[in-house]
Amino acid sequence: MSAEDNKKRAALEALKWLDDARVIGIGTGSTVNHFIDALESIKGRLDGVVSSSGASAQRLKAIGIPVLDLNAAGELSVYVDGADEANHRLQLIKGGGGALTREKVVAAVSKQFICIVDDSKLVDVLGRFPLPVEVIPMARSYVARELVKLGGRPDWRQGFVTDNGNVILDVHGLTILYPPVLEAEINQITGVVSVGIFARRSADVLLVGYGDRVEKITR
Ligand code: A5P
Repeated sequence: MSAEDNKKRAALEALKWLDDARVIGIGTGSTVNHFIDALESIKGRLDGVVSSSGASAQRLKAIGIPVLDLNAAGELSVYVDGADEANHRLQLIKGGGGALTREKVVAAVSKQFICIVDDSKLVDVLGRFPLPVEVIPMARSYVARELVKLGGRPDWRQGFVTDNGNVILDVHGLTILYPPVLEAEINQITGVVSVGIFARRSADVLLVGYGDRVEKITR
């Protein structure tokens, strides 16, 4: 079984977690794309979806699902999104696709955050995946120097601009033993818009797709 099959298995499982929600939030990435494709079969049950990125919004519109503005939608009952890494405490690294800030916002307003990953994403300690940090462009060098002081090796994702008009620094070489602490430290650096550690608002349910099953991890 390929990682793609395992992502799809986790994505299909997430359909069972929507209950009777009429408006849901969804994230970004290849795993979520499987989920969006699966939503087509139940789209009649939905009034619409709040999307964390332009890319997911386009995919939703293409299958006829209305994309709603978060300010009009209010609190969401369910948010479904992938991750780049997840630990057993349901703390995550996200932002490989550069949509971390909007993903944090949608996760923050959702009662249940269902995270869908393939088994390669499950780790004991976060940090092997370079940690994305969204930064306003004029602060890039300053923030990079501050991240070096925290023990990281920031790498500017050149040629990439976020949906919010900012840049991304991917921070290599971190061993994140205390995710909520590092999340707060990086968030406090002036010029940082958000950091891709999701620990203060972690997932509520982690669905991990394996070759023959989906493992459910809850808090
Ligand atoms: C997008 O910015 C990310 O947070 C994604 O959720 C994450 O990169 C997972 O993407 P894949 O599902 O493509 O691995």
